[in-house]
Amino acid sequence: MNLGEGDQVVNKLKLPSKKRLVLAITGASGMPYVVAALRYLKDKRDLELHCVISKAGELVMRQEVGWSLAELKQMTDHLYEETDLAAPIASGSFQFEAMLVMPCSTKTLSSIANGYSFNLVSRAAEVALKEGRKLVLVIRESPLSLMDVENMEKVIQAGGTIMPASPAFYTHPRTLEDAVNFVAGRALSAVGIENNLYQPWLG
Ligand SMILES: Cc1cc2nc3c(=O)[nH]c(=O)nc-3n(C[C@H](O)[C@H](O)[C@H](O)COP(=O)(O)O)c2cc1C
Repeated sequence: MNLGEGDQVVNKLKLPSKKRLVLAITGASGMPYVVAALRYLKDKRDLELHCVISKAGELVMRQEVGWSLAELKQMTDHLYEETDLAAPIASGSFQFEAMLVMPCSTKTLSSIANGYSFNLVSRAAEVALKEGRKLVLVIRESPLSLMDVENMEKVIQAGGTIMPASPAFYTHPRTLEDAVNFVAGRALSAVGIENNLYQPWLG
């Protein structure tokens, strides 16, 4: 090991100076929520964003918002493929504050609910649950099957939060962007990132 490598190891062992968020993008519909959240997070200097995207997530992202992996990479600090099981976020020894799975497919929901950590998304979610960290799943499917509902119940019992991707209308959204921002903003709030993407209800 040369000196440069030693420095890198020491730096990895230091406690994080910034808040770390894991964002997992899976192959459910809802990529505009990802775009809205990432645009908001881009200027947040106090946040280190670790992003992982599944193969199906890549496909749906290209289909819904036209983003390639290169475009996504520009919006994150670290981008991992789902097969990268050696990524830092796969280990409980790597500190992160919270994990947001948005959008979350029913397949990924099932893998998390049943502890079937076959890829980096489900493994990082397992880490979040076993380490008692915040885990929020923004689910998108309709209608739901009995298995989906049972899996959601399991995640809630394990300490996770299920957040259906459903905008509210009491805020009188005028554009699709308003409705998208509501869902993205509420999801960011759920992982502890206050934001101005939506208007909280003040009575
Ligand atoms: C255009 C498109 C939209 C999809 N939308 C959804 C969806 O809203 N919810 C869902 O659970 N699966 C959806 N799927 C299916 C998932 O992508 C598929 O089950 C995939 O295996 C999920 O893998 P992942 O969880 O590893 O990303 C969609 C697939 C495509 C191609």
